[in-house]
Amino acid sequence: MKIGGTHYRTIWPESDGAVGIIDQTRLPHAFETLKLSTLEDAAHAIRVMQVRGAPLIGVTAAYGLALALRADASDAGLESAAKTLAATRPTAVNLAWALNEMLTFLRPIAPAERAAAAFAKAAQLADEDVETCRRIGAHGKAIIEDIAKKKDGPVNVLTHCNAGWIACVDWGTALSPIYQAHDAGIPVHVWVDETRPRNQGAALTAFELGAHGVPHTVIADNAGGHLMQHGDVDLCIVGCDRLTAAGDAANKIGTYLKALAAKDNGVPFYFALPLSTIDWTLFDGVRDIPIEERDARELTHMTGRTDGGDIVTVQVTAPGSAGANPAFDVTPARLITGIITERGVSPASREGLAATYPEYARTA
Ligand code: MRU
Repeated sequence: MKIGGTHYRTIWPESDGAVGIIDQTRLPHAFETLKLSTLEDAAHAIRVMQVRGAPLIGVTAAYGLALALRADASDAGLESAAKTLAATRPTAVNLAWALNEMLTFLRPIAPAERAAAAFAKAAQLADEDVETCRRIGAHGKAIIEDIAKKKDGPVNVLTHCNAGWIACVDWGTALSPIYQAHDAGIPVHVWVDETRPRNQGAALTAFELGAHGVPHTVIADNAGGHLMQHGDVDLCIVGCDRLTAAGDAANKIGTYLKALAAKDNGVPFYFALPLSTIDWTLFDGVRDIPIEERDARELTHMTGRTDGGDIVTVQVTAPGSAGANPAFDVTPARLITGIITERGVSPASREGLAATYPEYARTA
């Protein structure tokens, strides 16, 4: 996507062997890039959310492994780097998926050739993510187009968190259908949930929709149900961090409440995700998907820009109050209208996903 006339991906190889990223902790107040040079740089970037979003976390881990192999390409070095990266964030399964792809490819390669091979494989995963997200967008665009044909005025899409190009390598998952509809001249307007506590909606989704010229309005997290009751939401599309083989979907905390409100109001609710987000080993998402608990400081404090242009962090809770900060929740399959994938729209069920991805579904 373009920022200030320059086309950016979210991650790229630099000419000096480092890996470039956009520092997402500085958005929307400052657009700054960073160089990752070591395994520890990559692990830190994922941990503190300089990069974030399930697909981008996976590709960053792949590049992180390549960076690690520059320092130690031995078998032990490879396995230990993969362990370090796997431990950075627990919920998005794309991380484990990407590391597994890398390990399967790299283990048979001689140590002397591993680092170069790893950079090439990471670049391949990045390219594939772009194409996958483009396809997700094409399938999701058809849903938006169908609704547009039946109504006057823009199609109102509600989204939660950030599942746009800055959560992936380019295009995004949930936002790719919106970009493609907008680019095709289909009138679309986005309700952007602010997404407390880290405000990925207000800070990141609003930033990227604005940069692309897509009409949008930021709303408080609790406004979605009210808007749905009044017919102001035509459909919801969100991203996903881990989908079980039975169609339960983990996404940013608060997604479940939006899905409940959508069900109560007959509003279609879609998750948009690639194959790398599906965990074929799990079936009961509420019981089995690990939910990341983050520092309560993300809840008790907020960062913003003053009218004078300074970026400041302030406390917003009563001093001394404890805070709890589960970062994701699970929406059960029964609340989901469909899963928008690179292969088309699948029912959120074991049978539906098995029909969409027959070569991955387990029969047991
Ligand atoms: O904690 P984050 O910002 O990494 O969470 C991101 C989300 O929940 C996204 O909606 C999800 O990863 C889908 S990304 C295409």
